Amino acid sequence: MPIRPRRLRSTAAMRRLVSETRLHPAQLVLPLFVREGIDTPHPISSMPGVVQHSLDSLVNEVKQAQELGLGGVMLFGVPETRDAVGSGLDHERGILNVATAAVRDAVGDELVVMTDLCLDEFTDHGHCGVLDDQGRVDNDATLERYAAGAIAQAQAGAHVLGLSGMMDGQVGYVREELDLAGYSDTVILAYAAKYASGFYGPFREAVDSQLQGDRSTYQQDPANVRESLREVQLDVEQGADLVMVKPALPYLDVVRMVSENVDVPVSAYQVSGEYVQIEAAAQRGWLDRDRVMLETLTSIVRAGADQVLTYYALAAARLFV
Ligand code: PBG
Repeated sequence: MPIRPRRLRSTAAMRRLVSETRLHPAQLVLPLFVREGIDTPHPISSMPGVVQHSLDSLVNEVKQAQELGLGGVMLFGVPETRDAVGSGLDHERGILNVATAAVRDAVGDELVVMTDLCLDEFTDHGHCGVLDDQGRVDNDATLERYAAGAIAQAQAGAHVLGLSGMMDGQVGYVREELDLAGYSDTVILAYAAKYASGFYGPFREAVDSQLQGDRSTYQQDPANVRESLREVQLDVEQGADLVMVKPALPYLDVVRMVSENVDVPVSAYQVSGEYVQIEAAAQRGWLDRDRVMLETLTSIVRAGADQVLTYYALAAARLFV
């Protein structure tokens, strides 16, 4: 037998030599929640190990992320009050903008600071856009709200804006308004292929979501894959610097397809439901947490993701050092 594939699996050193996929902390992005009006972190019962941060604890966590060499952090705000148009998104004293400024003060340019640019955390109806008089999400009116939020976030110091709302034309509209306001260096990460997923369930508690119903009129049908190519191409044409596929593990075919078809970096988001599946099983002793964590992250990168947003970013980075 001249050909024996097992030769290259014979020792850990040999396997390391021929490994096709390598994880590195610099490609991991840690999503973080900051809640207005609290002094100590609040646990999130649907996401064991993840908290809603106070401003102080947020800054500490971000410093840890920097020390461990993560690629970046993605900030989500949990406001004390909400209204129909999501005023907290673009208010200078809105919690996400205050937190972004504090984080930038602490890390400067040493870590990439990203913000979620969406209305759902700030609206009293929980949708990602404003509603028309029939209660439907009004795409074009929402674009103006995103542009106002984009300028507020850029002003607060965000390096990257994560446009997660799935409104048509959002990337082009926000890019133009940012440029007009003098923020031509602010990076746009388009949640280009974002599915209407049950895997966001635990996140909804993390941001105290007010949503009734679902987001199927703007997020994509899990049954479709070609549609993602169209969404991604539109976002790239409109000026997206980075594109995202979300969720990650159940959509690896989409990650693969997108990464083979665009020439911008591709991010993937291992979302809250993916995280808690592993956590719940690990707590019962049914899965080995660290092993499965690294296996899922490796799989997402192997499928073609250049960056991975994951609640495991710190835990994974600690295993590499
Ligand atoms: C929208 C947004 C959501 C997530 C990230 N950005 C929720 C949604 O679209 O319903 C989910 C992330 C996760 O589940 O970890 N602002």
